[in-house]
Amino acid sequence: MKKYIILVLILAGLSSCNHHQENTYWDYMGDFDMYYSKAYESYAPNPVFKDGKTLQKPVEGTIAREYMPYPFEKNDKEKAGKMLKNPLKPTSANLERGKMKYDIYCAICHGKEGKGDGHLTKLVKNGKKLYPIPPANLTADYIQAYPDGTIFHVITKGSAIMGAHASQIETDDRWRIVLYIKNHFKVK
Ligand code: HEC
Repeated sequence: MKKYIILVLILAGLSSCNHHQENTYWDYMGDFDMYYSKAYESYAPNPVFKDGKTLQKPVEGTIAREYMPYPFEKNDKEKAGKMLKNPLKPTSANLERGKMKYDIYCAICHGKEGKGDGHLTKLVKNGKKLYPIPPANLTADYIQAYPDGTIFHVITKGSAIMGAHASQIETDDRWRIVLYIKNHFKVK
């Protein structure tokens, strides 16, 4: 009995040494059983859809996962101020990170202390200022009176000559910068 078991094992071992791995199974009715999916290539014509294309646009009114639409145009800063609420609190961690991001992205124009006297405003060539438009003084009463959402909007969309910063500063960090401006630059 033992002998047979060993023999069977050896035979099984040998028969598994099949070097033609592409032939690993029998397929009886491949086409009918949908073994092979007949996917269309992305850019191939497609008789199934009305417009004859394989790639279809997203259904109207849907948004991509994790994409947050921003419904305000550049000159909507008042509307944004009324509708957007700062989701973060001025904890020391948020203020610290707000300062870090402010120093990187804003201080070059608005100055480390927000007075509108950043490095860029001091550059002069042939007696002419290289950046002639004065950046806003962020300690000014009218800026400190802006709702958080307005300042968030200015960072997100830009303002007049100031560029938009949405692509380089993520949403929560933009809110943290707002907290920093409102807390640190407030004239006491
Ligand atoms: C390249 C220079 C530059 C950078 C960088 C910059 N700003 Fe400005 N910013 C300006 C100028 C110039 C103005 C004033 C004219 C205007 O509104 O465009 C201004 C205006 C503002 C105002 C006032 C807008 C209003 O409606 O009165 C706020 C608030 C502001 N900036 C915040 C920021 C913050 C926060 C950052 C960093 C995320 C930043 N800015 C980065 C140049 C800059």
